[in-house]
Amino acid sequence: MSASYQPVLWNRQKKIYDRIIALFVLLYLSLFISLTSFINPEVTQETLIIRSTATLALLMLHIILMIGPLARLNTAFLPLLYNRRHLGVTMFFVAAVHGTFSIIQFHALGNINPILSLFLSNTHYESLSKFPFEIFGFFALIILFLMAITSHDFWLHNLGPRTWKTLHMMVYAAYGLIIFHVMLGVIQYETSPVLTFLIGAGMITIITLHIVAGYREHKRDVLEQSKNLEGFQKACAVSVIPENRAKVMTFGSERIAIFKYNNKISAISNVCKHQNGPLGEGKIIDGCITCPWHGYQYFPHNGSSPPPFKERVATFDVKIVDGEVWINPVGYPEGTECKPAVCS
Ligand code: HEM
Ligand code: FES
Repeated sequence: MSASYQPVLWNRQKKIYDRIIALFVLLYLSLFISLTSFINPEVTQETLIIRSTATLALLMLHIILMIGPLARLNTAFLPLLYNRRHLGVTMFFVAAVHGTFSIIQFHALGNINPILSLFLSNTHYESLSKFPFEIFGFFALIILFLMAITSHDFWLHNLGPRTWKTLHMMVYAAYGLIIFHVMLGVIQYETSPVLTFLIGAGMITIITLHIVAGYREHKRDVLEQSKNLEGFQKACAVSVIPENRAKVMTFGSERIAIFKYNNKISAISNVCKHQNGPLGEGKIIDGCITCPWHGYQYFPHNGSSPPPFKERVATFDVKIVDGEVWINPVGYPEGTECKPAVCS
């Protein structure tokens, strides 16, 4: 699908989303700077910049990591998922301001290259309490940089969805590095336990949300599955699928989205060709299954995108027996026409 492919209906939301991000950044920075200057009038402007951007970037990273599981647990969070890349790129810029100012403040005044100084000015690599914690931040920033510069669809198409996704899953590695960066730094310069407490609470929330979302998904997937002799497997009752929406079921390793529309049922792969978005969480708009993430569209009866687009996903045979939907999980090649089952 070309980069000019426009998401359906969401352009207004997209602008609102970006404005909310900008407002949040400005509000956080002004609040942090004015409160810190009020509590501690001695604090320098450099420290204010370093600390306000550091804590803001960390907060934004937590929000980014929570959006995925929250959207899986409750579709009300889907609007946050849309355009999440803008949040990620903004977070990188905020973290980059923090990193750059830290390097200028602590490593630019000597007679060696500031980046070399980051690695060589403190060589207590053997000690936890004196460890050069900045290097964890440095490597985290490199990962965030790689993610930010490849976030555009241009890179998704050139690298391929699998490589692109793997690269962007490195956000978890960046998160781990940042936790080390902050915790090892805190041991050295922080007397208050507030930051440690907040980071602990943040980690617990992120891990719990991921576990709960994963468990719910698994439970939902294995539910109501049974076999019959013709290769079809029982999926769910027709009545549980909302009109113009889908129920997603897993058969073996295949996730299938079963859509109901105009008194018909069709089944296609749940995995969007754009960024593997969950098609079954989208709805049918203008006769097309519309991915909830960025609006790519597919016809329900053949899994193909409307012309001129060329994306195609696998389709599956569907039967209705006594009000129950049965699926043959051995799919047809991507884009194959497949007769919908008629509900009544
Ligand atoms: C080149 C990369 C980086 C360098 C050189 C660096 C350096 C530093 C330094 C020197 C401090 C202590 C500041 C102080 O004494 O007030 C610090 C704290 C911190 N850094 Fe970084 N950092 C880098 C990247 C990152 C990144 C990518 C994040 C992402 C969120 C981050 C988050 C933090 C946080 C949350 C703190 C604690 C702030 C506080 O105590 O209020 N850093 N960093
Ligand atoms: S449109 Fe982006 S993942 Fe489906």
